[in-house]
Amino acid sequence: MTRRRGGLQWTATSVLLGLCCTACHGWQSVTTPAGPQASRLDGLFWIFTAICAAIWVLVLLVLAGAMMRKRPAGAPFPSERSEKCASIVVGGAVAVSALVIVGLTLFSYLATHGLASGTADPLVIRVRGYQWWWEVTYVDAAADRSFLTANEIHLPVGRPVRIELAAPDVIHSFWAPNLMGKQDLIPGRDNAITFIADRPGVYREQCAEFCGLQHAHMAMLIVAESPTSFAAWRANQLADAVASAGAVQEEGGRVFAAKACASCHTIRGTSASGTLGPDLTHVGSRQTIAAGMLPTTRGSLAAWIADPQTIKPGNNMPMVSLSGSELNAVSAYLAALK
Ligand code: CUA
Repeated sequence: MTRRRGGLQWTATSVLLGLCCTACHGWQSVTTPAGPQASRLDGLFWIFTAICAAIWVLVLLVLAGAMMRKRPAGAPFPSERSEKCASIVVGGAVAVSALVIVGLTLFSYLATHGLASGTADPLVIRVRGYQWWWEVTYVDAAADRSFLTANEIHLPVGRPVRIELAAPDVIHSFWAPNLMGKQDLIPGRDNAITFIADRPGVYREQCAEFCGLQHAHMAMLIVAESPTSFAAWRANQLADAVASAGAVQEEGGRVFAAKACASCHTIRGTSASGTLGPDLTHVGSRQTIAAGMLPTTRGSLAAWIADPQTIKPGNNMPMVSLSGSELNAVSAYLAALK
């Protein structure tokens, strides 16, 4: 009885958690597609769900029928007739199952076959997955029009985007369900995925392949915006860092350059040129830090710098020894890097 009650409580909690997550993260869903590729996969999802649900109901009905069937008293079992009948039913069920599997495979093939159509002249973005963050490079034929950022992607609505994926450490998987299917990032192999966002919005992407302790905290936002807004964002990202917001920020810049921060992070336009951690040139303009974990505020930046191993145990960011005023200045400086 106790075990059953525990099971019921567990089920109720799971359902509530599921509803809560859907309410808060409804924007990360296969069933609200925001582009032609995602729409195709959404259609495929519903076809599979409908057919599999129908089969499930049918199987339960047959099972219920078999359980309720009564054998006349004294009748031999199995009789020659019941054997013959069972052979026909099983043979028929096998044939129908084979047909359903072939049909679903065909649907799947047709849906995924057309994913690459209409994606000529894409915007090329290179994404490298690290334990546990995303490096993002906007590639342009002109080297001075290419730039590096991290943990947030912006793209123009209506234009095909080709994401070229690589991983230097372990296997990750790139997945923004509102926009595309999944594609793995595999060390030693170059993969790519092409898609179009046809609705402006902010879509959540997350790593979909277990890649270590902080796999669940390896996410980023994809901001799809009008071509004009995207061009403005791109122009701002191309520029070097500007952080002359005040005396505290200037002091923060000096501390950042003098401490270990600068040996792991790059801030273009300053002496900080480390390449181990994310590029922070415009970190204040991003919506989140720590690969989607915290909103970008001065407070969360300070918390992250003060104790990154409590917030995200196992990540490669070491604790840098800073005084209270230094921490205050560095977090103000980074928050101002818009
Ligand atoms: Cu990267 Cu999971």
